[in-house]
Amino acid sequence: MKGRFTSGLMKKAPWQLSENEVTPREVLRDRRQIIKALGLGAIGASIPGYVQAGLFDLFGEQTPAPEFVTTPLTYIKPALYQSDDETLTPYEKVIGHNNFYEFGTDKADPAANAQGLKVDPWILKVEGEVDTPLTLSYDDLFKFALEERIYRLRCVEAWSMVIPWVGFPLAALLKKAGVKPEGKYVAFETLFDPEQLPGQRNRLMGGGIHYPYVEGLTIAEAGNELSFLAVGLYGNTLPPQNGAPIRLVVPWKYGFKSIKSVVTIRVTQRQPPTSWNQLAPHEYGFLANVNPLVDHPRWSQASERRIGAGGLFSATRIPTQMFNGYGEQVAHLYQGVDLRKHY
Ligand code: MTE
Repeated sequence: MKGRFTSGLMKKAPWQLSENEVTPREVLRDRRQIIKALGLGAIGASIPGYVQAGLFDLFGEQTPAPEFVTTPLTYIKPALYQSDDETLTPYEKVIGHNNFYEFGTDKADPAANAQGLKVDPWILKVEGEVDTPLTLSYDDLFKFALEERIYRLRCVEAWSMVIPWVGFPLAALLKKAGVKPEGKYVAFETLFDPEQLPGQRNRLMGGGIHYPYVEGLTIAEAGNELSFLAVGLYGNTLPPQNGAPIRLVVPWKYGFKSIKSVVTIRVTQRQPPTSWNQLAPHEYGFLANVNPLVDHPRWSQASERRIGAGGLFSATRIPTQMFNGYGEQVAHLYQGVDLRKHY
């Protein structure tokens, strides 16, 4: 975590650092050896639980849980959202290279630390400026007409993947609740449960974000045909590291808009706060549309590393497309908007 903190307060977002600077791999590898060297491995059983938990927190690690089990889904494959010209990112990369800071800031942390997340029972509330507030159970999430959509995911850190999501349009959920004319924005919130999400109780592990993680869209963006609520990927329910049981996917925006493990969707009159904008407003805006012409203050957004079948760091560099290639569907939403100012 070197270089991330100044006088105890986070000044830099972790993705202000190049990926290989973030959590030196030797440190991760050495955790168990340090525990062993301290003799704690051997006497672990005699240490009180809360002390053990504290030690795991210290090393940004939880007691390992058995691997989460995903289940097959039934869905259609609309031709419009299949892809002939994109190669899918292999499943192992999609579930092994993640950003989910509630489970740690290293790309491997979510897969290592999220396996014990309890997703059933789950409650998703739809509230605010709606005619019929909804309280959906875990089972309710799978009662929508599910479809597969292959979308590009472009992270603000300049890497990207191509992922076959399974889910339903956000518009279908909003239609069910009925948006009132006063509703101008949609706010989203991730589960807040520091017991289960260690980054929420440990500022170092959680990357300095003020939890719960929150995101937002304008009502027009939320109603756009591309805005999607995913409950699965590669044909099965979502693994926890990808945001089980339900997460947002907005493919024309930087990945941080695609909030995971959502518990509240609130239609609001005013623009809601968003986590990365709160942490570094000069770097991460509310709109956060993928835009190769507007660089991040400290790196270019003109190209991206497409994560493919090779090793994690042997990805192909390709040009970044305006709106991540979805301009036909979304450019009209930003007519007259200065996208340099509203980055
Ligand atoms: N949602 C929550 N709650 N916490 C996070 O840290 N990271 C975001 C987004 N959603 C994040 C989140 C970022 S930066 C990206 S790039 C995507 O999730 C990554 O999604 P993936 O891990 O499924 O590829």
